[in-house]
Amino acid sequence: MSEGAGKRFLPYGRQWLGEEEIEAVVAVLRGDWLTQGPAIERFERRLCEVTGARHAVAVSSGTAALHLAMLALGAGPGDLVAVPPLTFAASANAALYAGARPVFVDVHPGTWCLDPDRLRELLRAPPGEGRPRGVVPVHFAGLPAHAEEIAAIAREHGLFVLEDACHSLGAEWEDAAGRTHRVGDGTTADATVLSFHPVKGITTGEGGAVLTPHAEIAERVRRLRHHGIERDPARFRFPSPGAFYHEMQELGFNYRITDIQCALGTVQLDRLEGFVERRRELAARYHRLLADDPRVTFQEIPPGCRSAWHLLAVEVPSRDRVFAALRERGIGCQVHYLPVHLHPYYRDLGYGPGLCPVAEGHSARTLTLPLFPAMADADVDRVVADLREVLDKAVPGEEDR
Ligand SMILES: Cc1ncc(COP(=O)(O)O)c(C=O)c1O
Repeated sequence: MSEGAGKRFLPYGRQWLGEEEIEAVVAVLRGDWLTQGPAIERFERRLCEVTGARHAVAVSSGTAALHLAMLALGAGPGDLVAVPPLTFAASANAALYAGARPVFVDVHPGTWCLDPDRLRELLRAPPGEGRPRGVVPVHFAGLPAHAEEIAAIAREHGLFVLEDACHSLGAEWEDAAGRTHRVGDGTTADATVLSFHPVKGITTGEGGAVLTPHAEIAERVRRLRHHGIERDPARFRFPSPGAFYHEMQELGFNYRITDIQCALGTVQLDRLEGFVERRRELAARYHRLLADDPRVTFQEIPPGCRSAWHLLAVEVPSRDRVFAALRERGIGCQVHYLPVHLHPYYRDLGYGPGLCPVAEGHSARTLTLPLFPAMADADVDRVVADLREVLDKAVPGEEDR
């Protein structure tokens, strides 16, 4: 299962490809369809099987998936969309692409995912005064925390739910009746977005998908992925003069994914269970080895939630010094995330410090440690030993506590 441990640079995440992936890609290269061919539909069918989704539309990236899902859910000029700040910028940018504005809702202090109580607070505003049209829960680090609660709030207030599950392919949660759900099965969201970037749960190089229980949303995303062009005669606005006829019915994009990518992705999906299982083992090892260290705080996992462990994020004192010292030792730690609303672009739009104090405080302490399925147990041991040594040397300043 491992590449072995040494003093080589250990990234925080990376893909794991085998001969089967290479053969699948070569088979497409030798065939007739490099793009718009049958490998895409095969991949989409597998995505449905693996997640329990009714519909899956594969696109060129997770960002493209967010953009198209946002449009298909009807977000537009004048709308607000609730987004947690502890995420990759794309989750909030998608609202801007659609002409809407993100409204940042703080994260829960333990799970680091969107806090349902903060969302309720926002919804106490009178209609028209800062009430969002939709919400984008982000399954930070692979944890589908509070999913059922957020879905219930959204239902009560008529919000759409666009789940950013770019971290959480393969994650599961248990509903109030004790039934297990896979992220993407449509129970908690109108649309669920995945990313297949190489550090994610599976990869297609670049790629993403929209999963949805709604046929009309899938249809709209499919049309928008290909310039807004409709080829189904049943949906034409004007009479068709022949089989060549098609209609561009709205302004869409070229967000297509290729058959080459999807062939790779289909083999990767076959390996998903093994990948997630290995991530869980490695995460458990980190927890076990650091359980007695009060300087390290792990993400709180609510009962019934099974994370996909895309990231192993912890809070530590003197984070900046710990980060630099680990990097010097060849440990490719990272920081996920700088709060989105504090990026200069968002400050220029009028957002700023103090908006989401929990996320801002967490962001100053957070550190992502290496975690990817091809890691060896010994790699975890090395990271833990280095982290302990570095923490011993880094005297926590008052500002960290
Ligand atoms: C939470 C989250 N949302 C969206 C994205 C965007 O995905 P992609 O890089 O495939 O466009 C990412 C990728 O880093 C992500 O982590």
